[in-house]
Amino acid sequence: MSEQKKKTVFSGIRPTGPAHLGNYAGAMRNWVLLQDKYKCFYSIVTWHALSSEYQNSKIIKEYTLEMAIDLLSIGLDPEECVLFVQSDVKEHAELHLLLSMVTPLPWVERVPTFKDMQKELADRDINTYGYLGYPVLQTADIILYKAEIVPVGEDQAAHLELAREITRRFNRLFGHIFPEPQIMLTETPRLAGTDGRKMSKSFGNAIYLKDRPEVIKAKIAPMVTDTRRQRRSDAGEPNDCPAFTLHNAFVEKERREELAQACRTAGIGCLDCKKVVIESLIHLFEPYREKRTKLEGNPDLVWGTLEQGNARARKAAQKTMAEVRAAIGI
Ligand code: TRP
Ligand code: SF4
Repeated sequence: MSEQKKKTVFSGIRPTGPAHLGNYAGAMRNWVLLQDKYKCFYSIVTWHALSSEYQNSKIIKEYTLEMAIDLLSIGLDPEECVLFVQSDVKEHAELHLLLSMVTPLPWVERVPTFKDMQKELADRDINTYGYLGYPVLQTADIILYKAEIVPVGEDQAAHLELAREITRRFNRLFGHIFPEPQIMLTETPRLAGTDGRKMSKSFGNAIYLKDRPEVIKAKIAPMVTDTRRQRRSDAGEPNDCPAFTLHNAFVEKERREELAQACRTAGIGCLDCKKVVIESLIHLFEPYREKRTKLEGNPDLVWGTLEQGNARARKAAQKTMAEVRAAIGI
């Protein structure tokens, strides 16, 4: 496809820790799949991380490098896509400010994630002006590049709906500058962590992309399974098995169906069933581990790659902001 015909994609990821399998299956894997079909802007959104981690702000830079290494190691190609750091492109902040002028307060107060996250992150004080503006900043991220497509999981649907509303309002007030961004719902298989709850860094139950093969084994082997299977001879139901959420994401369909059948007829033991996904994961992330080892030893190279991405993003952002300033008239 010719360069001009490619639609623009934008997505962001918060640098709040090393990437785990949930992040990979929910977002990162898709970023790689989209990179040659679209003009992709992918951002490590440091200011979004700061909105909840401001009491521990120094860690964000370290996590930015970690996230860049994770992304490059799973196969993001910095020639194909623009991989950059949000806070290195100051236009995000300017557009966020301008959008905040036209965003009615009830619109942001209504976003369900605002109250949900306050509960989930109860140990942090996120009852702040900045956190309320989280989805407005997200809107700025997206439309700064005139992105038409935003690949995200279901949890971001409310933010995307708000982004569309803000975009419409801006266009009505100042002239049609921005396309209305469309959500591209990526299938986000809900991955269970080692304790059976949702995989999350804050629950301490995550399997990280950078885990060594021994660690992957040690984490999955004792993982919670369907409680019906007290004995090897008891039949089970894969749909009620936390471990099987990993199979759903990482074992190919045919093999997975065989295992599901075997589980339902007590034809396989849980450890043997888990071994299949352990082996797939070890195999799948072999090239990742190789690439990561190289990049870990050369952080300057990674920062340099991000710098190049920042410069490309800045160029696009500056072009948009010139139009925006002219439209507003100040
Ligand atoms: N809020 C998103 C998340 O938590 C991250 C994000 C920030 C984002 N800006 C974005 C995603 C713009 C898509 C587009 O996952
Ligand atoms: Fe889960 Fe597999 Fe055991 Fe069935 S056999 S309960 S799917 S681990």
